[in-house]
Amino acid sequence: MKLQFVFISVWLQIVQASSTWHFYSNPEYKVMACKAGLESVATWCSEGSSKSYKCACTNEPELGSWLNCVYNQTTENDVFAAESQVIKYCDKVKATLTHDKLKDSYANATNYLIDVSKDESFNKTNPINYPITFNKKASKAYKGYYIGYKHRYDNVTTSHYLGIVSLSMWVALFAFASVLHWIGRLFPSSKKALTGSIIDNYRKFIALAPTFNKSHLQPVDKLWAHGYFPTRFESIVLIIHFIYTAVACSAIGFTYTKGDMVFKNYMAGTSRYYGDRSGIILSYQLPLLFLYAGRNNFLQWLTGWPYYRFVTFHMWLARIIMFQVLVHSLAFVAQSDALGKTHSRLQAHYYIYGIVSTVAGCLILPLALQPIRKFAYEIFLFVHIVLVVMFTWTAYLHAEYLHYGSFYWVCCGIWLFDRFVRLLRAFAFGIKTAKASFLVDEATIKLTVPCPNYMKPFPGSHVFVQFLTPTTFWQSHPFTIVSSTTDENQFYLYCKVKNGITKKLLQKFQATEGSEVNIKVLIEGFYGSESPYHHYDKAVLIAGGNGISGPFSHALKLATSEVSKTETKLFWQVRDYSVLNWLGEELMQLKNTKVYPIIYVSDPNSSIDSVHLKSSSFDNSDNDSCEKNSPGENIKDANYSHSFMMDKFGFIEFHQGRLNATEIVASEIRESAGSVAIGACGHPAMVDEVRVAVKNNLSGSNKRVEYFEEMQAW
Ligand SMILES: Cc1cc2nc3c(=O)[nH]c(=O)nc-3n(C[C@H](O)[C@H](O)[C@H](O)COP(=O)(O)OP(=O)(O)OC[C@H]3O[C@@H](n4cnc5c(N)ncnc54)[C@H](O)[C@@H]3O)c2cc1C
Ligand SMILES: *[C@@H]1O[C@H](CO)[C@@H](O)[C@H](O)[C@H]1NC(C)=O
Ligand SMILES: *[C@@H]1O[C@H](CO)[C@@H](O)[C@H](O)[C@H]1NC(C)=O
Ligand SMILES: *[C@@H]1O[C@H](CO)[C@@H](O)[C@H](O)[C@H]1NC(C)=O
Repeated sequence: MKLQFVFISVWLQIVQASSTWHFYSNPEYKVMACKAGLESVATWCSEGSSKSYKCACTNEPELGSWLNCVYNQTTENDVFAAESQVIKYCDKVKATLTHDKLKDSYANATNYLIDVSKDESFNKTNPINYPITFNKKASKAYKGYYIGYKHRYDNVTTSHYLGIVSLSMWVALFAFASVLHWIGRLFPSSKKALTGSIIDNYRKFIALAPTFNKSHLQPVDKLWAHGYFPTRFESIVLIIHFIYTAVACSAIGFTYTKGDMVFKNYMAGTSRYYGDRSGIILSYQLPLLFLYAGRNNFLQWLTGWPYYRFVTFHMWLARIIMFQVLVHSLAFVAQSDALGKTHSRLQAHYYIYGIVSTVAGCLILPLALQPIRKFAYEIFLFVHIVLVVMFTWTAYLHAEYLHYGSFYWVCCGIWLFDRFVRLLRAFAFGIKTAKASFLVDEATIKLTVPCPNYMKPFPGSHVFVQFLTPTTFWQSHPFTIVSSTTDENQFYLYCKVKNGITKKLLQKFQATEGSEVNIKVLIEGFYGSESPYHHYDKAVLIAGGNGISGPFSHALKLATSEVSKTETKLFWQVRDYSVLNWLGEELMQLKNTKVYPIIYVSDPNSSIDSVHLKSSSFDNSDNDSCEKNSPGENIKDANYSHSFMMDKFGFIEFHQGRLNATEIVASEIRESAGSVAIGACGHPAMVDEVRVAVKNNLSGSNKRVEYFEEMQAW
């Protein structure tokens, strides 16, 4: 299904666009210019607009004059094509002509041709009933129209090509990335062999580096900038896209020619060229915006790139496209003014839709900035969707009038497809009753979610949860799963309490602390891709606080997998020992495995005595020493001693203080005999530190060092 969609979306776009795209040929320009040139020097019919071909096709004297011009301007090579164009135009006004009929009309007309420039009394506004010669005046008008049409429509053709090229550049990037990704996936050893100074330098300076020094996941909160810095690779892709688009939109390739009869002054012509150019190129790029924003974007699966990389592309592409929208709009403001059509165009619906669309589009950008997303994500999302619908709908009406509507159908199709797959996924999972326990001191909600056996969670995957309570059901929040080894038919979510929905739920159920509450949830998943740690000799998983879910699941899988020989270290930075209250039970599963957990406790006053976890699996795991305990009994109440707790968690190495990510990465890479995979999830500053440490420790080793960012933020 995904592959089919690749095909459909890319080709639909090009096919759709080109089906409404009229390709103008040189003979057609000649035919158009002949008709327009002659009508500017003489009149045959008293009624009818100058744009219509009715008179030229049905009035024998005008047809004769027109053909006289066409035959004069064409050569043997294009005369047939030109005749065909005449027939086509006449077909549209229901005048059926053939090549023979045209020749007859011309032959007859040659008997009556009159050179009106020799007639002093000739008045061009009074209709005449005879054919005229292609005199000097007519020839000059013809040339003016010919160059005018050629500039105008060649520019349209060029714009289509440039739009297609800009799309193809993205396709080429994805094709390249997909091939690399799938080779690495299907033949893991090939990737491990990719070492050496060229590759290390590429990874050090481009693939792994943040755009500037070290910020990638840490939001920048400066007066001049808010948001996330892309990685350097993403920046390069975006800069290339930007430069290409800027050049494509501004390098028109010809200059306004004096005597142009289509656009009678410089401003009217030039602004039209820029307006058409930017409008058409942006039409080709627009569907990418919708594609990148979708949760079910097939490109994630093809390239192995995480969702938030596409979100980054989505955001920056949107800015570039809105810039083109502005250029397009301003160009037509200037053109309307130069043509003296401002007033009449302001009465035209398509023009008004264009204005509304531009305004809606311009509002989207500031209202999607990171501070707004951070402080009021739900409001951002709602306003974003409303404005995008407004923008797309009005832009569609505007463009449809000008025969560019199909681009917007592609956008809608992509959006609807994503929503449809989301529905399918939610439907496949169904509404479940999750058990929630509220750990007030730890500010964490633990959800135990039953999982249908045909849905397979994988380490590092996340689901979107809708809590089906009357006030919260409409919000959809991502959380990373922790798989359960004891019961395959369920998984856990550890949700840190923040200021939105999580706080609301905590307040509502605070009183139930210690016991479990049933909450109906709608789950949409599983999203994300599984980082292949098992292909490496060593896995170093670094987590902070609630970021443990992904790394823990990976560790658990490596611990329980029989084939994997990966030596695994799980580093976890926490504030105090109380985290064992919510993850202690799960951590016990790592006892006596090849996974080595190391926990850094930063609060010096914290003591393992504060741990009072209640657990059943906990007791079963060490039967000798706690036979007396019935499952489910509270350990603290049962008066376990300090030394007992130390003993229980003896397989974990505890440190007081903060984890130094830079040092850990450096020493783990140094000490490893083979390939190393490093993964991180936690506080953005820590994750960025790991990224930079990995990049700085690349060179000079012949063992492949891989970095998997187990964290996403958008
Ligand atoms: C892929 C992924 C996996 C995650 N896994 C976990 C996890 O295992 N445990 C955990 O505690 N947290 C996880 N988070 C973070 C979690 O999604 C947010 O903490 C949660 O949505 C906050 O809800 P709130 O309404 O209480 O937050 P608020 O206080 O309203 O916002 C807190 C922060 O969360 C962001 N946020 C809020 N809603 C969303 C949303 N729907 N989508 C994306 N970001 C949002 C806001 O921009 C803000 O920065 C994950 C986030 C992502 C993107
Ligand atoms: C020949 O041309 C004349 C003058 O344009 C016109 O009036 C007449 O109808 C034409 N005859 C035929 C057979 O087309
Ligand atoms: C075209 O018309 C011009 C002026 O009427 C004349 O000089 C020229 O010879 C014609 N050319 C052809 C190929 O008929
Ligand atoms: C041509 O005729 C129109 C009306 O038929 C008239 O208004 C105009 O003044 C005339 N032009 C010239 C140059 O004689």
